[in-house]
Amino acid sequence: MPTEKRPSKVEGGDATAARRKAGERSPLLRPDWRYVEPCNMDDYRAEDWAVMNRQREEYLEEQQAVQVLDMLKASRDAPTFGYLINNYEHCLQTATLLHEDGHDEETVVTGLLHDIGFTVCSEDHGRFAADLLRPHLSERNIWVLEHHEMFQRVHLHGYYDVEDPAFINERDRWRDHPHYAWTAEFVARYDITTIDPNVENLPIEFFEPMVRRVFSRTCNAQARGER
Ligand SMILES: [Fe+2]
Ligand SMILES: [Fe+2]
Repeated sequence: MPTEKRPSKVEGGDATAARRKAGERSPLLRPDWRYVEPCNMDDYRAEDWAVMNRQREEYLEEQQAVQVLDMLKASRDAPTFGYLINNYEHCLQTATLLHEDGHDEETVVTGLLHDIGFTVCSEDHGRFAADLLRPHLSERNIWVLEHHEMFQRVHLHGYYDVEDPAFINERDRWRDHPHYAWTAEFVARYDITTIDPNVENLPIEFFEPMVRRVFSRTCNAQARGER
């Protein structure tokens, strides 16, 4: 009796799948690093983890910034659902304006990445960005990321089905917070206006060294385990 041919796991022309079929390994970041051989982590021993941990530290130091930039750049040509520019261009426009207004590098990078999760984690994209950047940012910029969606509500006229004033104005409860004023300004000047196709953005390449420098340091006290 003829049986239906099961699709091969490596069919489809995908380059990575083709390499797996041939047994080829992913390259190591450094030529002098070594692979940890077992294919089941249950079989790793302390010496394996020691190798892994040593190599991981250097890997993350370099690759976090590289892969975050890759994440952002993956949406470079994405379509929009109505905005005149896509989210990638919006992020660049926010960063460009922050830079042109003379803000420091960390703030520019915060602007560049503030909406990196806008599509893939749309309901909580401020927290998404905050968690991504938490070890590398000052408390002020983490606060901006976590609260910028809430601070936008007062600007989104007619967006909500029920205009509950307590919800729309929820940011008011933070009025005495040290980061209230900057978060309100960030939203008003650098977020809700940076959707303009007539503005020329600086290219991503301009910001890449900034992202690498911000990711290379750990400035958040919480991340350093100090509180
Ligand atoms: Fe946002
Ligand atoms: Fe935004």
